[in-house]
Amino acid sequence: MEIEGNFNTVEYRSGALRLIDQRRLPAEESYVECRSAGEVAEAIRAMTVRGAPAIGVAAAYGMAMAVGRSAHLGPEAQIAVLDEAAAVLSGARPTAVNLFWAIRRMREAAEASEFAGEKLAEELLELAHEIHRDDIATCRLIGDHGAALLSPETSLLTHCNAGGLATAGYGTAGGVIRSGFREGKVSRVFVDETRPFLQGARLTAWELSRDGIPVVLITDNMAAYCMRLGKIGAVVVGADRIAANGDVANKVGTYGLAVLAREHKIPFYVAAPMSTIDMDTPSGDEIPIEERPPEEVRRIGDTLIAPEKVEVFNPAFDVTPAGLVDALITERGLVRLAEGESVGSLYP
Ligand code: MRU
Repeated sequence: MEIEGNFNTVEYRSGALRLIDQRRLPAEESYVECRSAGEVAEAIRAMTVRGAPAIGVAAAYGMAMAVGRSAHLGPEAQIAVLDEAAAVLSGARPTAVNLFWAIRRMREAAEASEFAGEKLAEELLELAHEIHRDDIATCRLIGDHGAALLSPETSLLTHCNAGGLATAGYGTAGGVIRSGFREGKVSRVFVDETRPFLQGARLTAWELSRDGIPVVLITDNMAAYCMRLGKIGAVVVGADRIAANGDVANKVGTYGLAVLAREHKIPFYVAAPMSTIDMDTPSGDEIPIEERPPEEVRRIGDTLIAPEKVEVFNPAFDVTPAGLVDALITERGLVRLAEGESVGSLYP
């Protein structure tokens, strides 16, 4: 499979799912192998693999591996193993809807299949490959639609990592950056470090540097001043779940950037595949927001930076109201949410 940037975020080979270990980047480029749905669920929970589309693709392979490992059982027992895998994978992280979307697709395909045993395992593995391939193609379309919004030589700001590492390759916001840079629309990218897990500093800065795209790393609290100084021409971020009314859950800190962008009259764009839209969730108020362990805030890496027992609030995501999103960029095209266009317009 053709992947941009010389690394494979997710790769299935010889019965195992190989994941680039995103906890260790950029210091070390190492890989983790998962051989069961339980191991994939643990990799998602521990953020070895992260980013909404990437965890969806990984979960699809987790489901395929569960069916493969139970091919010797009878049809009913095989479906029971699949249901168990679905439950374990669904419990890994709550916010990114791509996870549940991929699990449901795999489960429905098994239900609809005329096969059982090895044949069913082959069919589901092929579907996981299809979800993988489609994600790359989707990101390229998102990249092209997003680049069309930018004026030449725009200086962008992004948050967290919505690049090749967060997807099967190319990226959503990262795709807009890549396509835009190739077309001369992007001069450089300001990257928020993205406390506490530092996806911006560790992952986005690494990815963009590898692509030769000029990066300026800032701490999260510098974004407002950069906007005030006129250094930012547009903000582009990814999403973990978009509710039916257009509210966007993404990495905590996104909402603050959207408010700042509006204050400074800077366009704020969200790039995401259709699989991130959850029409069953009416608004951002109903999106489950993951809370992560307090140690992520009390420490940077292994270093304690706060009193050992200080109370911590560590939501991994926040919700940006649709009205602050100038355009939602999908593979099917744009939705100008701030102008009142609706997410429903993407569905024929
Ligand atoms: O906690 P993470 O690193 O999984 O959060 C990732 C994000 O918030 C990304 O912006 C989002 O998943 C979009 S990835 C294309």
